Amino acid sequence: MPKNKTSKKTKFTSKKFGEDFVWGVSVAAYQIEGAHEKHDKSPSIWDTFTSKPGVIHKNETGDTACDFYHSYKEDILLMKAMNISNFRFSLSWSRILPKGIGDVSARGIQFYNEVIDFCMEHNIIPWVTLYHWDLPQVLQDKGGWTNREIVSWFEYFTTVCATNFGDRVKHWMVLNEPMVFTGAGHFLGVHAPGLKGLKNFLPAIHHAVLCQAAGGIILRERVSGATIGTTFSCSYITPVNKKKKNILAAEKADALLNRLFIEPSLGLGYPVAAAPILKKLKKYIQPGDLEDAVFDFDFIGIQNYTREVVKHSYFIPYLSAKIVDAKNRNVQTTVMNWEVYPKSIYKMIKKFNAYEGVKKIIITENGAAFEDNVANGFVNDIERRKFFKQYLKQVYKAKEKGLKIDGYFVWTLMDNFEWAEGYKPRFGLIHVNFETQERIVKSSGKWFAKFLKP
Ligand code: FCB
Repeated sequence: MPKNKTSKKTKFTSKKFGEDFVWGVSVAAYQIEGAHEKHDKSPSIWDTFTSKPGVIHKNETGDTACDFYHSYKEDILLMKAMNISNFRFSLSWSRILPKGIGDVSARGIQFYNEVIDFCMEHNIIPWVTLYHWDLPQVLQDKGGWTNREIVSWFEYFTTVCATNFGDRVKHWMVLNEPMVFTGAGHFLGVHAPGLKGLKNFLPAIHHAVLCQAAGGIILRERVSGATIGTTFSCSYITPVNKKKKNILAAEKADALLNRLFIEPSLGLGYPVAAAPILKKLKKYIQPGDLEDAVFDFDFIGIQNYTREVVKHSYFIPYLSAKIVDAKNRNVQTTVMNWEVYPKSIYKMIKKFNAYEGVKKIIITENGAAFEDNVANGFVNDIERRKFFKQYLKQVYKAKEKGLKIDGYFVWTLMDNFEWAEGYKPRFGLIHVNFETQERIVKSSGKWFAKFLKP
């Protein structure tokens, strides 16, 4: 009857987003591969960090993780069965270059060649992130991101990857969330390499900004027909109330969490006016650096999970601003204690649209960790399904309003090693039993398969 007809027409599926809209899933090497000592691979900073007692939930490590190194075929086939046609994964630098620079591991290259070829045989497009946080430990021993030499190390790594994979890989992302690996890894000390304070944070920021552009330039030179992007974490920030001091605190947080890495790449410099602490970057900026930090990315990857509510605080050194914990705000949260706030993704698409130099925007990560239960071989993850529907509706709203939005990647294909939180938060469309490595497609995965059905 007519009524049914209408409801069929308005069904929310991927088709509504148009034919060119890119749909995919994202993963990262350390979180899934395992095989941490296989063949020539040397330790990365995450191998070192996770071996220290007390830094990771239950002292878990990524030594085995999802064992993707051995099960990549099975996992890519599951992806295929979910109608997912774009796969974003990262390369383990220390698997490819066990000494950080210099000798290339043929076995390391072979592994990624196999993954790339297997994807392509199954009509899945590989999207490669060069750096998703796992710096070779040998380079950390020389200061890692705090040493300006990282720019030449990173150029070397990028050149090796472009030369070996660029004939088939045409979609690249230079860095994954520089704010997180500099902030959590070099200021708060809760991620590898576990460093703290401004003396580590500031040089790491500036060197990451230089690498971001340097990587882009090399990919452009070496890979014909490449589409080059980089990714940024971002959250919609609101002040706890309208008091002037809280508004200023929120602006500061916004500058640090959302603007710090994109603005130099667009030639806008660092957002110093909103976050005066960044004036201290001067010490590390050499003549010509701000010009060298600019790169004309083909797309910007934005990664959004939640929003943050911010207030002024006299007790937080340097920043005088703090995040009001979601658990004290009486809102729905995930296992990460992140607020479920779908409008955040719309606000972020809008925010990044406002930059004149941004050509395309792709959501390169979005997803949620909830408690999952396996019952009779099924995982009925209703909350995750609901999360995706709510967030995707906001993405669709952006599209309808004519904002640039060109793709969406789910974080993540399968449950994996969630950094400092270990294996507790499960973000996957596929459930992984970490004892047996058995996979079960969750109901959210089945929902996605239908949503993406050609
Ligand atoms: C992002 C990371 C990704 C994963 C998700 C939950 O910040 O890029 O590796 O940990 O959060």
